[in-house]
Amino acid sequence: MPLFDVYPINDIVIQKAKGSFVWDENNVQYLDMYGGHAVISIGHNHPHWVERIEKQLHEISFYSNSVKIPIQNQLSEKLNQISSKENYQLFLCNSGAEANENALKLASFHTGRKKILAFSKSFHGRTSLAVAATDNPSIVAPVNETGNIDFIPFNDTEVLLSYFQNSGNELAAVIIEPIQGVGGIHVATKDFLQTIRTLCTKYNSLFIADEVQCGYGRSGKFFALDHAGVHADIYSVAKGMGNGFPVGGILIAPHIKPKYGMLGTTFGGNHLACAAALAVLEVIESEKLIEHAHLIGEKLSKSLMELNEFTQVRGQGLMIGFDVPEKLKDLKRNLLNRQFIFTGEAKPNIIRLLPALNISGDEITKFLNAIHLEIKLVHKEKSRETENIIRN
Ligand SMILES: Cc1ncc(COP(=O)(O)O)c(C=O)c1O
Repeated sequence: MPLFDVYPINDIVIQKAKGSFVWDENNVQYLDMYGGHAVISIGHNHPHWVERIEKQLHEISFYSNSVKIPIQNQLSEKLNQISSKENYQLFLCNSGAEANENALKLASFHTGRKKILAFSKSFHGRTSLAVAATDNPSIVAPVNETGNIDFIPFNDTEVLLSYFQNSGNELAAVIIEPIQGVGGIHVATKDFLQTIRTLCTKYNSLFIADEVQCGYGRSGKFFALDHAGVHADIYSVAKGMGNGFPVGGILIAPHIKPKYGMLGTTFGGNHLACAAALAVLEVIESEKLIEHAHLIGEKLSKSLMELNEFTQVRGQGLMIGFDVPEKLKDLKRNLLNRQFIFTGEAKPNIIRLLPALNISGDEITKFLNAIHLEIKLVHKEKSRETENIIRN
């Protein structure tokens, strides 16, 4: 049976991984500046993560949510403590889309309303409501289309104010990525996020922060929204939460009350997923990875700006994006094929950097040296072309 061919893939087989490196079947080493799609938070195969999962595997890996699962409580306590969202409640699921699906559904249950506000260039996942709130018509199937989602421009406070004036009383929730990922690393302004908070409170709508990509320490704070000094009513998390073990969740403010049967999932919160997620938080804490992401991310951004080749270097912490000029249009491909470095991308010409939060200074230097070399090579090729034109 062939695999359903939906992913444009690189002709590479990864067989081994450790920290910020992966190795292919020929033992070629690659530096992972992509974090396997923003998923690797504490480094590939971190020994503490392996040990915790292994130990859990020998005890019990799964039982349904019909019994007490104390490791879920351990995880929620640790998450409360590290995220400083102290009285928040935790609902566990399996992916980012599922987290957002539940966040949106919960907002609708809570408010009794149907309308959702989302923003240009947003990405919230591929399930029904999550994809409907995603600003990419090419991935919205006819059955996902709903008149319940409105889109307005990202970071446009004027439009936001007038939207609330007209529709605030019908609005169940605003969903926003405090740093847009798939959309090309665009940081929401403090003013915009604070205004969303004020308006949601005034109109009794819920503020959902989609922190699936930008959360879990990546921005240099536990949640990217923390940079704006306001709280969301619901935070959705996934990617970095399990460091590659599939797990997601929503953190829910204390004023939102649960009811039996309101939300549910078979696999969400299983023992193995909780062991992986606990290991991640323990490493984030013991290795001080949030502070590290902030400091090393700032250095990396500064070094990229100083190259004077990229028009805009954007982002926070270790979530960095920059526009690649036409003359360097093959940079991503060349970094992979000539320098053995994985990076991420966003359309049309943006490179996204989402490395593990414990990437070292030496590994960052290796990346910057590779970029230097690629820029030099392109300049050399260009001057050779010019010489040929002059000669001929
Ligand atoms: C901000 C954001 N939300 C939601 C998702 C969907 O997550 P998943 O692919 O785990 O369903 C993604 C995935 O890229 C994302 O970046």
